[in-house]
Amino acid sequence: MERPEIDNVIYTEEQIRAKVGELARQITEDYEKDAGERPLLLVGILKGAFIFLADIARQLEVPLEFDFMAVSSYGSATKTSGVVRILKDLDTDITGRHVLLIEDIIDTGLTLNYLMGNLRARGPASLEICAFLNKRVTNKVDLPIKYEGFSIPDVFVVGYGLDAAENYRNLPYIASIKR
Ligand code: IMP
Repeated sequence: MERPEIDNVIYTEEQIRAKVGELARQITEDYEKDAGERPLLLVGILKGAFIFLADIARQLEVPLEFDFMAVSSYGSATKTSGVVRILKDLDTDITGRHVLLIEDIIDTGLTLNYLMGNLRARGPASLEICAFLNKRVTNKVDLPIKYEGFSIPDVFVVGYGLDAAENYRNLPYIASIKR
């Protein structure tokens, strides 16, 4: 099938695999040192993080549990306003747990900033961020991103879980699109 909108491939499957491996090694090392009594809880932000979460989870060599949140922004379709609506909350009580948020991409950072505040208030033992992509130039808040895959310029990208109007999430690579 033709993909008329797909512009340049930014990260190939091989580059993605290598970066996921690198991140997984760092995370394994950190959480092995401070293994809590309960398994590390990976929290995937739906929908975009589902593929990254599945990939990195299978590379992590520490005990894991999983949960998910789904959020929607009150902003326009492509820009977040910072006011976030929780469409699906966690099933897990995170009090006293080590929690690692798994996000596909950070643009303004407002979505994660809101989520960090919301989750911190629930009293986790630790709360960190692992984001595969970060558009540092468009960040509006200074997020404590402990694990970052790639820093990318301000281009709209799809694939590897990321969509344009729900399309292209299944592409195994990350590409920019013509708009
Ligand atoms: P933020 O609150 O501005 O950081 O928005 C983050 C969310 O915007 C991500 O979880 C994505 O859903 C979406 N987003 C931002 N940039 C892109 C992109 O280039 N492609 C696809 N989705 C994006």
